[in-house]
Amino acid sequence: MNTKILMETAKSLVANNKGILAMDESFPTCNKRFAKLGIPQTEDFRRAYRELIVTTHGLGEFISGAILFDETIRQKIKDGTPMIKVIADAGIIPGIKVDTGAKEMAGYPGEKISEGLDGLRDRLIEYHQMGARFAKWRAVIVIGDRIPTQGCIEANAQSLARYAALCQETGLVPIVEPEVLMDGEHTMERCFEVTEEVLRTVFNQLYMQRVLLEGMILKCNMVLPGLACPIQESADDIADATVNCLLRAVPAAVPGIAFLSGGQSAELASARLNAVNVRFKSKLPWELSFSFGRAIQQPALEIWHGEDANVTEAQKALYHRAKCNQAARRGEYSAAMARK
Ligand code: 13P
Repeated sequence: MNTKILMETAKSLVANNKGILAMDESFPTCNKRFAKLGIPQTEDFRRAYRELIVTTHGLGEFISGAILFDETIRQKIKDGTPMIKVIADAGIIPGIKVDTGAKEMAGYPGEKISEGLDGLRDRLIEYHQMGARFAKWRAVIVIGDRIPTQGCIEANAQSLARYAALCQETGLVPIVEPEVLMDGEHTMERCFEVTEEVLRTVFNQLYMQRVLLEGMILKCNMVLPGLACPIQESADDIADATVNCLLRAVPAAVPGIAFLSGGQSAELASARLNAVNVRFKSKLPWELSFSFGRAIQQPALEIWHGEDANVTEAQKALYHRAKCNQAARRGEYSAAMARK
């Protein structure tokens, strides 16, 4: 294991107030988002959309790394340049999603376990040879009546740790992503309890599997009330709850925490990331960054709508959301900036 390279890559992913762009939607997820807008769900349209993203001029000013899906890492843009080369040439570190999806967990109704460990070592070697320098594995935790269970949390934490150990052996920085979903009526306090429990379990497993904490990035949810909870706290209260939870569970050796957006609107995700940094930047052991999918892409996807004629406008929207999130990392984002 090349500790030095892993540590340098992990640091680069959260340096200079940049963040990670998640563009690794699997077939079902990408197709679902296309279907909502009436965009054909074909390989060609997925390729055209990903080309729109990676050819957005200047994206590397705000984005440190981009997470790709297996289909995308093998694709080329129209002029024949491999997608991964376009990304690297823009100064963005290429990454790859390697879990094969969250499936129903046997014996645990309503809960999910992420799969993909079988054959993972060989897949990681191939991705590294292709030029990927980091990877992502997402575990999904649902809050509901008597869930999550300890059984589900532990199974997911163990898989995350096995994945992370294999990544580091191959020279890939693991993005360790336990996502506590926002769906439901639960309160912010309940999300705090569950997120703390999940993170503690994940870090216990990471220690147990001898994962180098300095050579990984944690990607997690903010501590939020459920989408259907009648009480929706302010960005400042969410920032306090999120950082207090992280302080209890995340070791100081971890270089960075990159939040997922998880279905928050683009504006809310930026406003909350901003509040976290206004209140805590430079007072914490880790960088507080972003690894947003929808909160960077959604406005651009809606403008594009599958039409070539809309590419330039869509790229402007993508560039703008990326810029907003870098400003939020600095604690300099505002609603006025969002409207520009
Ligand atoms: P969202 O920001 O859309 O939640 O996507 C981030 C991600 O990569 C989920 O795995």
